[in-house]
Amino acid sequence: MADVTVRAPAKINLHLEVLGLRPDGYHELAMVMQSIDLADTLVLRASADATIRLRCDNADLPTDGTNLIVKAAELLRSRVGLPELGVVITLHKRIPIGAGLAGGSSDGAATLVGLEALWGLGLGTERLHALAAELGSDMPFCLEGGTQLCFGRGERLEPVPQQQVAERAVLLLKHPQASVSTPWAYGRCRELRGDFYLESEADFEQRRQALRHSPLLAALADPGPLPPLRNDLQSVVAPEVESVRSGLDLLRRGPQSLAVAMSGSGPSLYALYPDLAAAEAARSALAGELDACGFASWCCRCGGPGVSLVTDGSPP
Ligand code: C5P
Repeated sequence: MADVTVRAPAKINLHLEVLGLRPDGYHELAMVMQSIDLADTLVLRASADATIRLRCDNADLPTDGTNLIVKAAELLRSRVGLPELGVVITLHKRIPIGAGLAGGSSDGAATLVGLEALWGLGLGTERLHALAAELGSDMPFCLEGGTQLCFGRGERLEPVPQQQVAERAVLLLKHPQASVSTPWAYGRCRELRGDFYLESEADFEQRRQALRHSPLLAALADPGPLPPLRNDLQSVVAPEVESVRSGLDLLRRGPQSLAVAMSGSGPSLYALYPDLAAAEAARSALAGELDACGFASWCCRCGGPGVSLVTDGSPP
């Protein structure tokens, strides 16, 4: 059986609004997520010994049952009731770990898509989405990619048509020593802002409607500057994580961008530019300060699909 290769792109949050707390303990969110062309690659090879094994070129990443790739493979195999199936998955890690870029979720979503092809399961989109939502709130977005409004826990998607989104590129920063636990960030948000959370479905829906008709959504269509971006976790994480404060400050002082924000629960930060050349020029202009502060940086385009099978045989 031929190997299956899957591309797993990262995302950034253009908007992350915490609306309230749900009966299941998760937060009710209103977000705009955007896929970017920084991606991991997974190569899946069938094995005859009924084991699920993960290898990775980054020693910092656990490859045991705590990894979302292994969890996704185990869940899928048990749901289709075929315990005799086995796989060796090789992960080429490019997306920084623990960064708020959904690298782990995208790898998990890519595992579902890759195994469906490798094992010939024919599950269809709806079942894949349900499995993805069970494994992680960001995972359904990772399957779809592009630009999406994400509601509920993050799993309820409303696509923003690509013709309503101008081309953009992003300069991304992350301090290698910084990492933020997502449960911690939401827990801290609840401590600090819980008294102001909305409570009724009518209030949630009013905020969803406001986002659908927001200045941000309207501005996405034009190549010009964007209104200030909102990330409710940024104001919770920034006071606690020095590199988030210094990185935001650096990006704001750098060459003029379309917008600057933290992604997800952080600690990665980004500035948007009209194209890749402008993002790369900004990185060059900031190179001395980026080095001095010890930031790792990436320039990439916004857009593109979610996880996808690689069919052209090009190496990862
Ligand atoms: O769904 P996922 O496993 O990615 O979520 C990780 C953690 O982030 C959850 O356990 C929860 O603490 C927090 N979270 C939340 N509300 C969301 C999404 C995540 O409180 N909508």
